[in-house]
Amino acid sequence: MLRLQAGLPAEYTDASPDELARRIAAAKETLGERLFILGHHYQRDEVMRWADARGDSFGLSVLAQQRPEAEHIVFCGVHFMAESADILTGDHQSVVLPDLNAGCSMADMADIDAVEEAWESIAEVSDIDSVLPITYMNSSADLKAFVGAHGGAVCTSSNARAILEWAFEDPEGPRAQQVLFFPDQHLGRNTGYDMGYSEADMAVWDPRRDLGGLDEAAVKSARFLLWKGHCSVHQRFRPEHVEAFRAEHPGGIVVAHPECSHEVCSMADTVGSTERIIAAVDAAEPGSVIGVGTEIHLVNRLDEESPDKTVVSLDPLVCPCSTMFRIDAAHLAWTLEALVDGRVVNQITVPPEIAADARKALDRMLAIT
Ligand code: 13P
Ligand code: SF4
Repeated sequence: MLRLQAGLPAEYTDASPDELARRIAAAKETLGERLFILGHHYQRDEVMRWADARGDSFGLSVLAQQRPEAEHIVFCGVHFMAESADILTGDHQSVVLPDLNAGCSMADMADIDAVEEAWESIAEVSDIDSVLPITYMNSSADLKAFVGAHGGAVCTSSNARAILEWAFEDPEGPRAQQVLFFPDQHLGRNTGYDMGYSEADMAVWDPRRDLGGLDEAAVKSARFLLWKGHCSVHQRFRPEHVEAFRAEHPGGIVVAHPECSHEVCSMADTVGSTERIIAAVDAAEPGSVIGVGTEIHLVNRLDEESPDKTVVSLDPLVCPCSTMFRIDAAHLAWTLEALVDGRVVNQITVPPEIAADARKALDRMLAIT
């Protein structure tokens, strides 16, 4: 989705790192308790050092909700996270994203028109009342609203299994026969395998093809209709990386994010959200070598913060998440100094008619987990 970030004034773009740090510290001091800065684990260190709280996308949504006294929540993460924070926080609070270009290419792989079209197509061949939409947190607010309006829930990488168990098995739940899971096929597939389902229970829905590129029988029989979306950062990790790491470090530990392919996750010792990845590194014995399949800023930070362990990326050539990387010290300083001047720049506001249904899907997630 196109969002336009205005260029920053030269006083920010030309400022040295020390000057920016001094200005951010001064603005934080002035704003005091009125300000709450959240930092996702993929943020750069120059930004993360200013976060009042860090977390994965589930943890950050809970944290945002727990600070009703903060007038301004500055979200150092990506757009869908800031939207969720806006939905979950009060009307007296503003949620600010320091750079509007910080989107998520995976979230952009499903839009409301394509999801509605898919829903109608599925309804032509399957009993739509027994199909439940489940959206990954990495999706726009209007997709969360679609899910909320159709009885489904949001999930994150830390609770996808609990949400899917609720969808299929909970006697008090919707007892769905099928789920349409978007936009990340890998999280859906990895969770399905984890729950004991097999490839025969899953079909990939390609939104660019008629009936998702499937035949009627495949649509009807799939327990999981997995949207053909992926994360370009996590898709880079390949089984060969795991093999090379294990060959170089016999006894090494492999930890992967569930946005990686099933081939990679099935070879890992631990699979989980960014928070779970951190916990796995913390729990490893001193002297361990840990190969991690996730965004490089988190991997490097874990290595720095665990001097008694060696933490490396499974892919030596891994790229950063280019959208998380948009948030830098200059944008943070600009955002905070505007707040000090009484101006809210880059406020993320979800229209009330979308927020109401999206909130249902988020609240279901929060109630289940
Ligand atoms: P987490 O919820 O695990 O932090 O993941 C968010 C994300 O965007 C991973 O790419
Ligand atoms: Fe989106 Fe992937 Fe970046 Fe996470 S790492 S924000 S899924 S593009």
